[in-house]
Amino acid sequence: MNAAIRAVVRTAVYNKLEVIGIREGYKGMIDKLFTPLWSHDVSDIIQRGGTILKTARCKEFKTPEGRKTAYDNLREINIDGVVVIGGDGSFTGARIFNEEYEIPFVGIPGTIDNDIYGTDYTIGYDTALNTVVEAVDKIRDTASAHTRMFFVEVMGAEAGFIALRSGIATGAEAIIIPETRNEVDKLSKLLDGGTRRNASNLVIVAEGDEEGGAYALAERYNKLYPDYEIRITVLGHLQRGGSPSAFDRVTASRLGYAAVEALMDDQKCVMVGIQNNKVSLTPFRKAVKLHKDVNRDLLYIQEVLSS
Ligand code: F6P
Repeated sequence: MNAAIRAVVRTAVYNKLEVIGIREGYKGMIDKLFTPLWSHDVSDIIQRGGTILKTARCKEFKTPEGRKTAYDNLREINIDGVVVIGGDGSFTGARIFNEEYEIPFVGIPGTIDNDIYGTDYTIGYDTALNTVVEAVDKIRDTASAHTRMFFVEVMGAEAGFIALRSGIATGAEAIIIPETRNEVDKLSKLLDGGTRRNASNLVIVAEGDEEGGAYALAERYNKLYPDYEIRITVLGHLQRGGSPSAFDRVTASRLGYAAVEALMDDQKCVMVGIQNNKVSLTPFRKAVKLHKDVNRDLLYIQEVLSS
């Protein structure tokens, strides 16, 4: 997100615009957490995880009164346009605000889950993926040495993008994601044969899978194969931090630049994204409402390569 903030500030300053950073998202709009940002304020941040502006959930912005206060505060300091970095929740707030008030909002997709319609990649996804791959490679060493099965749980409350790609990149024997339904049967078939139980097995589980995550699955397989050693690793929030990958920095830079361009072109209520390596604009309404599916070719490839 810092790379996106830097790109927004630098593009705006280049175009002789003034930028005010709003700390803690919509909460900062309501509480007047405004801070001017110039080029030098965004030096030395492109390589840092997190966000210099911080973030917060804000219940008040969900109410008409909260949005009115936000609008009055933005008007008071002569804000002509707003760039919002976030996901579904942030864009829903932006869409409602833009139906009520004229100050244009443009969105940049930022979530490690990559589950936003209208962009092939969201900011943070690639970095999280690389973190998962590094961790799972290390887990494989123990799994191989001890001939164990590991259930590794990765983030993805409603989506399996991280699980699918990291599963392919680490040569996982199975991936279990919310977008598909019969992976557990397939895993059982694989293990029932017996020979697979003489080897290491890595199963990447998206936290939001309907089977209940790594703990629930491990319990189930422990009962089925009491002699086969099963272990669990939940990678958790370490997936959300760390220095961003080169790919994420470039994506964030392109999107930050595109968001300012969009505002200068009088766009409102849209999200900038990258589709087929080109910058695109998608209305907030669609970005939030439409479902982005995982790549079904990748799913099939994973199955073939782990057979
Ligand atoms: O942004 C979505 C996500 O990364 C989910 O995959 C995960 O469940 C959630 O964030 C964790 O959020 P929190 O930090 O609020 O627990």
